[in-house]
Amino acid sequence: MPRIVIHHAGERLEGEIKDNTNLVVRAGLKQFPYPQLRFGCAMGRCGRCASRIIAGAEHLPAPNWVEQRLLGDKLGEGCRLMCQVWISSDLELTQDGVSIGPKR
Ligand code: FES
Repeated sequence: MPRIVIHHAGERLEGEIKDNTNLVVRAGLKQFPYPQLRFGCAMGRCGRCASRIIAGAEHLPAPNWVEQRLLGDKLGEGCRLMCQVWISSDLELTQDGVSIGPKR
């Protein structure tokens, strides 16, 4: 089972998820990493779930067109939209200092 580490406001939060899990879906069901994970639309529109990947990015699927459109240059800075990513391996991330506005 993938192990997720979230750095949030100086805290290190850790938990396990099932294979092929989406963190925004989990948080919507009020399971780990709720309530620490910031999210909104769950559709790749609002940017609230944007996160900087600290470790494990190499195991994530390539960014889809939704992430490419909303994140733009932030992709190169290691940011991903957690509502668009299904996770099957260990991942460490933070949302601290990551701010993405919605695209119109
Ligand atoms: S929750 Fe809105 S873009 Fe991910």
